[in-house]
Amino acid sequence: MEPAVKYTLLKKEKHTGARLGLLETPHGTFETPMFMPVGTEASVKNMAPEDLDKIGASIILANTYHLWLRPGEDIVQEAGGLHKFMNWDKGILTDSGGFQVFSLANTRDITEAGVHFKNHLNGRREFLSPEKAIKIENYLGPDIMMSLDECPPFFESYDYIKKSVARTSRWAERGLEAHRNPDWQALFGIVQGAGFEDLRKQSAQDLVSMDFPGYSIGGLSVGESKDEMNRVLDFTTPMLPENKPRYLMGVGTADSLIDGVIRGIDMFDCVLPTRIARNGTCMTSHGRLVVKNAKYARDFSPLDDNCDCYVCRNYSRAYIRHLINANELFGTHLTSYHNLYFLLNLMKGVRQAIRDDNLLEFREHVFEDYGFNQE
Ligand code: GUN
Ligand code: ZN
Repeated sequence: MEPAVKYTLLKKEKHTGARLGLLETPHGTFETPMFMPVGTEASVKNMAPEDLDKIGASIILANTYHLWLRPGEDIVQEAGGLHKFMNWDKGILTDSGGFQVFSLANTRDITEAGVHFKNHLNGRREFLSPEKAIKIENYLGPDIMMSLDECPPFFESYDYIKKSVARTSRWAERGLEAHRNPDWQALFGIVQGAGFEDLRKQSAQDLVSMDFPGYSIGGLSVGESKDEMNRVLDFTTPMLPENKPRYLMGVGTADSLIDGVIRGIDMFDCVLPTRIARNGTCMTSHGRLVVKNAKYARDFSPLDDNCDCYVCRNYSRAYIRHLINANELFGTHLTSYHNLYFLLNLMKGVRQAIRDDNLLEFREHVFEDYGFNQE
């Protein structure tokens, strides 16, 4: 059987671990490294699918946890699956719900069988198991789905992380067994192990022996420093097979994207660009710009003088600031549009730099000249 998603390594950058690749999915073939906008509730907040298409998004992310609890995976399936339900015909990836249970729900109780928690919408008791997560994802119908994992705090004890990694591996195995549509939905395993090299190794070995079509790296960007994250990536990506895609979960600052690519990451997602856009913060080539600030009241220049997006070509800081202060929804549409364009365009630059074997110079340029260090 052909796998649902196929990765082709096109080129390795000469001086770093960066890879240029192609990801073939049932909804198109896309270039990697890529950034995936987040559409938790089957909508990338403030963006129409047509906008996402225009700015070159290829795969977007949705959340099993949210869509299971509302509207329910049965309704999405009745609609013909997520792609039809939300009118998006390129790639969709769903997270398994593990991370969301840990970050959103309270009074959770993790057992070998699965995780008990209280629904954050109505307080009802719910139970999510590795099999149930897969069943829901089979109903939702994304191109890529995640195994149920446990994402413990980064600074938990060695003994706890060791037990947690072993359970995440057993859950991955159970998920693989429960998966009904491997011919059109690719299930990824998630490598955990916090900051411990031997536990990351154990996790990677367990999952690689199960032969997933792709591997995620979880448990990062959860409060540890950037140096710490890079240290973990330095030893974790080499543990993964070259001919499969590697997805670093929940990472989306400009500097972390570049530093992840340098360490062999192919896919990223993060709520950051759309979340900060909603309170009037913009990602620019000169660092973050809080367009709500009074100092932009009479600033008729674009959000970013180096950006050629639809927003920067047509609207001023003063206008966008006014819209956001007046609670006009168009304001956060414009900042969301620009921020996503900014990251997608950054990744385009990263891919070109891999082709040109000058990714380290590209990084220097972005970090030094453009002063991203505060991100
Ligand atoms: N999103 C960000 N980090 C994680 C993780 O460790 N696991 C899952 N399932 N999703 C994530
Ligand atoms: Zn712009």
